[in-house]
Amino acid sequence: MRLVERSIRSRAFLLQYLQIMEEFGEEIPWLQPLKPISFSTNPNYFRDQFLRRLGCEEEEIVPYQLVMSDVPREFVGGILYFPRSPEGFKDRNNQEILERIDSEGYRFISCLQVRDVFRGQGYGATIMQRALGAILEEHKKIWGVVSNPSLLPWYASMGAKVLSPAENKDELWVVSFAGHQESL
Ligand SMILES: CC(C)(COP(=O)(O)OP(=O)(O)OC[C@H]1O[C@@H](n2cnc3c(N)ncnc32)[C@H](O)[C@@H]1OP(=O)(O)O)[C@@H](O)C(=O)NCCC(=O)NCCS
Repeated sequence: MRLVERSIRSRAFLLQYLQIMEEFGEEIPWLQPLKPISFSTNPNYFRDQFLRRLGCEEEEIVPYQLVMSDVPREFVGGILYFPRSPEGFKDRNNQEILERIDSEGYRFISCLQVRDVFRGQGYGATIMQRALGAILEEHKKIWGVVSNPSLLPWYASMGAKVLSPAENKDELWVVSFAGHQESL
């Protein structure tokens, strides 16, 4: 298994993008503006619109993908890295946390997913640990949002600190990662 970085205009990213939209398309508000470009076959248009619709000025978004090491390099799962988050919250506590961590230069990760046929075999943990290891080498602080509270202990086992109140209007939990992460 290898964790690789992809370009947003690559065929490999398109696979991940479609999985992300299937998994989170109805759940994550900032993915909504991307729906109309889902079936664009023009890679330059797709990339430009992807960045514009997410309000990203720089092309620093990195799709990380866990792939098999053999010739087909089958896509197993992945996570997206953003220099700045496209998130926004309704809950005042969450919004204050967001503003604070943005001002402190935290980087953002989102859309962790493993293809359903590969779940429960430790690949999700592998993606998190390797992506965190790669990002934390350069940027010292990372945050993300957990939408399923039953996953919070799993994130905590990988070094996440939960910043959101247990009860909040968004029913979303901001987690942060800092310091050195072990690469698996
Ligand atoms: C969450 C996800 C990435 C985990 O990937 P995975 O390869 O199955 O992860 P692992 O095998 O490394 O371990 C998963 C751990 O989370 C737990 N878990 C997975 N899905 C869960 C769920 N819906 N509720 C509670 N726990 C869950 C597993 O029981 C396991 O716990 P354990 O290590 O104590 O046994 C994968 O289930 C997935 O893609 N889910 C859909 C998208 C999603 O929810 N992403 C997270 C957004 S916050």
